[in-house]
Amino acid sequence: MNKKILVTGGAGYIGTHTCIALHAAGYDIVVYDNLSNSSREAINRVSTLIGQSIDFIEGDIRDAESLRQVFSAHQFFGVIHFAGLKAVGESVAQPLKYYDNNVSGTITLLEVMSEYDVKNLVFSSSATVYGDPERLPIDENSPRSCTNPYGQSKLTVEHILEDLAVSDASWNLIPLRYFNPVGAHPSGQIGEDPNDIPNNLMPYISQVAVGKLEKLSIFGNDYPTTDGTGVRDFIHVTDLAQGHVAALNYLESQTRTAKTDSIGFLPINLGTGKGTSVLELVAAFSKVSEQDIPYQFADRRAGDIASCYASADKAKDLLKWQAELSIAEMCQDTWRWQSMNPNGYNAT
Ligand code: NAD
Ligand code: WQD
Repeated sequence: MNKKILVTGGAGYIGTHTCIALHAAGYDIVVYDNLSNSSREAINRVSTLIGQSIDFIEGDIRDAESLRQVFSAHQFFGVIHFAGLKAVGESVAQPLKYYDNNVSGTITLLEVMSEYDVKNLVFSSSATVYGDPERLPIDENSPRSCTNPYGQSKLTVEHILEDLAVSDASWNLIPLRYFNPVGAHPSGQIGEDPNDIPNNLMPYISQVAVGKLEKLSIFGNDYPTTDGTGVRDFIHVTDLAQGHVAALNYLESQTRTAKTDSIGFLPINLGTGKGTSVLELVAAFSKVSEQDIPYQFADRRAGDIASCYASADKAKDLLKWQAELSIAEMCQDTWRWQSMNPNGYNAT
């Protein structure tokens, strides 16, 4: 029988791509999402792509009763927990909203998992937990610190998971620390669909390319990097999705062979290990899309760091996973999604 996975936040950007990868890998999935930052159309498109309807429940992770109904109706092998809010600037303006959704919501989910004795969790953490890194590439033992409520919410959940693993050895908890997810499904049917003006670089570039936004502001050209602009580890969202399948496979193999010796708390970076500057990404996007990307240099953005890229060795060693897709492919797939869906999932 196929293993069944609960995917919280499965209607979102990374969740939809991961649902496709999970289905292809033979997992059964149940998606639980309150649609606060996503749409039913995304679920419909995933259903079309996988050729079967998705078991979808509209619900909030802070609603224990609703979660209990889901756990009563299904026998889960584990949970992939994407549900959460992710806008750094909004988290500074509305910290309680972020702590409530991301921290309280996760506690409620963990409590219900415990009630139903489901102890396998893959959690969406972030490279943001490393703050301004002391050394590059960043490995999983690097010191953690955060400068904004969004980052604090991720770091707090990591601390909670660590404490949980100490308290009860039957938990298997894998926080995956994503670097900078970009790109879209190669079909052009699903991708990132920001509600408002994008905060992140890649969706901003693609909206300039498609003519929705006039010009990119590049925040800072005086960083100590090769060309003065920020350097990040961009990773294709389909590689990232595959990383979740690899984490589940690892959980399965470990729990099968060593039931008494559980994984506990096992943080793993998901990145490519390569840094790309803002200007390099703009040039790559312009090349594959054959569009001009007008830009201007602006002041550094508060809270930004100069450079951030992963050591991807732990994922390679333990999960037997590594990112495969290039910056050109990330740009190509983003461009296909953006040009086929200039208004995202909202057709009007
Ligand atoms: P997203 O906003 O597209 O997806 C998150 C999903 O969670 C959305 O569908 C939203 O409706 C749902 N959700 C939010 N709060 C919920 C709640 N209380 N109950 C139920 N559903 C809820 O974001 P994404 O880019 O797919 O990110 C997924 C996860 O990965 C998030 O936890 C995010 O913090 C983390 N992450 C994202 C990035 C990135 O750059 N995209 C980087 C690192 C980590
Ligand atoms: C990348 C580079 C900007 C927009 C954020 C979150 C992080 C994680 C991923 C969730 C930087 C520059 C950007 C623009 C620009 N999310 N830039 N003009 O800041 O590395 O990470 O998303 O966990 O927590 O902080 O990503 O795409 O916003 O920025 O010049 O309009 O692009 O200054 O150098 P970031 P980003």
